[in-house]
Amino acid sequence: MYWKTLVRLAVFAASILLTAGLPTFGNETFNNGTSTPQAGDKYVFAHFMVGIVENYQLPDWIADMTAAQAIGIDAFALNCASIDKYTPTQLALAYQAAQQVNFKVFISFDFAYWSNGDTAKITAYMQQYANHPAQMQYKGGALVSTFVGDSFNWGPVKQGTSHPIHAVPNLQDPAASSSNGQRSANGAFSWYGWPTDGGNSIIQGPMTTIWDDRYIKDLKGATYMAPVSPWFSTHFNSKNWVFICENLPTLRWEQMLSLKPSLIEIISWNDYGESHYIGPYSANHSDDGSSKWATGMPHDAWRDLYKPYIAAYKSGAAKPTIDKDGLVYWYRPTPKGVSCPQDNLPAPNGFQMLSDTIFVATMLTSPATLTITSGSNAPVRVEVGAGIVTTNVTMGIGNQVFSVSRDGKTILSGQGGLAVQDQSKYYNFNVYVGGIQAK
Ligand SMILES: *[C@@H]1O[C@H](CO)[C@@H](O)[C@H](O)[C@H]1NC(C)=O
Ligand SMILES: *[C@@H]1O[C@H](CO)[C@@H](O)[C@H](O)[C@H]1NC(C)=O
Ligand SMILES: *[C@@H]1O[C@H](CO)[C@@H](O)[C@H](O)[C@H]1NC(C)=O
Ligand SMILES: *[C@@H]1O[C@H](CO)[C@@H](O)[C@H](O)[C@H]1NC(C)=O
Repeated sequence: MYWKTLVRLAVFAASILLTAGLPTFGNETFNNGTSTPQAGDKYVFAHFMVGIVENYQLPDWIADMTAAQAIGIDAFALNCASIDKYTPTQLALAYQAAQQVNFKVFISFDFAYWSNGDTAKITAYMQQYANHPAQMQYKGGALVSTFVGDSFNWGPVKQGTSHPIHAVPNLQDPAASSSNGQRSANGAFSWYGWPTDGGNSIIQGPMTTIWDDRYIKDLKGATYMAPVSPWFSTHFNSKNWVFICENLPTLRWEQMLSLKPSLIEIISWNDYGESHYIGPYSANHSDDGSSKWATGMPHDAWRDLYKPYIAAYKSGAAKPTIDKDGLVYWYRPTPKGVSCPQDNLPAPNGFQMLSDTIFVATMLTSPATLTITSGSNAPVRVEVGAGIVTTNVTMGIGNQVFSVSRDGKTILSGQGGLAVQDQSKYYNFNVYVGGIQAK
């Protein structure tokens, strides 16, 4: 009750500030009196689509959670629709599994399905889980987030829940942060993880931090949860586009290491439909139609790439620490100009802005020479430094061969798991991701 009194006082204080024309909310006002995060307060989450795991059993959840824990992810943001009858069952299993392996979870209400009129149902979920041992707590409150749902008022949910809540909803417009006080929100989550002018507009890369900078400025010290995503391509008839984010798997993390946002949410763990999954494709999910572009296209090696970045973000380091030589590569299965007469959809919107390129991130303990042979193209040799360095070469049709040598000795060598083809049944702008580790 003490906490709720504080919130009411805070709302009252905020309304006074508002009438005085001052900032409408203060960073400390709504977050239980704790101060700005310390180095140890950095957390990394991954967006998890509950809508495609209808058949999950406890061991399925545990397998995903332990794989996420292995790279330093703290919690899953459980994206839930209101329409799925299995949401309550799967949420219960997720919380149970997380408790069992000492992982954390929180709900991310997907407002493509929920609406502002669903306060009672949302409150019931929060009341059920806010003080569960596996609930992610942040700044003294149970974390909750959304996809869209920008104008939802968290005040009544907080009043109806006996445990404090820290609400970090998705805001599509950073300037809407100024109404966080009225909506009892404690911060904002940005969905702009790819180069865009807003909405789903596609612009030329590379990714910048323009959007992050706007959120951070407009939030005035309140919690900012930044999106980190490696890729985006989708090919449904209802949505058919690709964002231009070719070097995003490393570039975005480099941005995070200098930006140091309060929280990071990786988009995503298992959204195969949008091709930005870093979790295993082998997980027991139901097919939303994305098997056409996600089958045989593993992204697991991105977890090896993310691990040192996550550790660096959490420790406040400017660069990741690499203690074992390795490399991670990613590339599309065809050149962008391939024609797919059997596909009843056109190539995804934005494809012309892509380049036909093979990407390699070397993860090295000391400098070495990287050699990439892409199809019938001549081998390209590049001197690469220690740490994580991203190199690209022009895509050639055929096998992709990678090797790294140091002091005249080959320390890494291998072939990409998929040959680039000049034909394909369906347009596929997803990427094949693989890695080579030192023995
Ligand atoms: C946010 O917190 C910092 C550090 O406590 C303080 O300097 C700043 O004025 C606060 N911002 C607002 C809007 O209260
Ligand atoms: C996936 O889940 C279903 C339903 O529980 C189960 O019958 C099936 O064996 C599972 N498949 C795998 C590969 O675990
Ligand atoms: C939040 O406030 C309550 C009541 O003052 C206190 O017991 C609790 O420790 C606080 N939580 C944090 C994380 O400071
Ligand atoms: C490939 O690398 C070059 C040299 O670093 C860089 O200028 C170019 O932007 C990169 N291409 C892509 C598509 O990232």
